[in-house]
Amino acid sequence: MTGKFVTIEGPDGSGKTSALKGIIEKIKVLLATELVVTREPGGNPISEAVRDVVLNQDYPEMDKRTEALLFAASRRQHIVETILPALEANKLVMCDRYVDSSIAYQGAGRDIGMQAVADMNLFATNGTEPDLTLYFDVPSEIGLKRIFEHRQNEVNRLDDEKLAFHQKVRKAYQQLAVENPERIVTIDAAQPLDKVIEDCIKVLMKKLPESFK
Ligand SMILES: Nc1ncnc2c1ncn2[C@@H]1O[C@H](COP(=O)(O)OP(=O)(O)OP(=O)(O)O)[C@@H](O)[C@H]1O
Ligand SMILES: [Mg+2]
Repeated sequence: MTGKFVTIEGPDGSGKTSALKGIIEKIKVLLATELVVTREPGGNPISEAVRDVVLNQDYPEMDKRTEALLFAASRRQHIVETILPALEANKLVMCDRYVDSSIAYQGAGRDIGMQAVADMNLFATNGTEPDLTLYFDVPSEIGLKRIFEHRQNEVNRLDDEKLAFHQKVRKAYQQLAVENPERIVTIDAAQPLDKVIEDCIKVLMKKLPESFK
């Protein structure tokens, strides 16, 4: 495998999707390899269909393990259809959320257990791990405020959770960052968006010099 796999992680409202858009605009001209930008859960028809089920507000009865398995099933298809072919073709893959999201949200947030969710995801990933993860750390109050200020028409089922849930998720991400210092770089996502984007690009260029001209 010759390409590079980068994931963007962090709680709801930490600015992952906004920053990714800005990062792409700025690095397009600097890249030595082709770029593939994708997101989880989704990225292909099967995974998008699973996404519609797992994020649908009409299913409040969804069991937490069902939720974790659906995310992993969506992930598996995404790996096979999108991520692996791109890595085999020497491309840079940037993915909005990956396994760390499952560990933080289902493992810690929904109390299934971080290790249990990590183990279950090993079956789905079959060892496909990011080369680099940008973890967007933001105080939960700020993340939630951003969501409810800006995205009132777009609130999904997971966004309905309260502050305590977000704090559990953040704590889990922080633990993952401590446990995986080689892979995970923490970005201060409470900064203005321009500064967040700038910090991410600096890390990308430092950690993946071969992907840049
Ligand atoms: N650094 C920032 N400062 C202030 N507002 C921001 C910043 N980054 C993003 N926002 C705003 O916060 C809201 C949430 O951002 P965004 O959708 O990018 O977060 P996200 O991490 O992708 O969330 P989710 O996990 O729910 O997809 C948006 O309205 C966005 O404009
Ligand atoms: Mg997003």
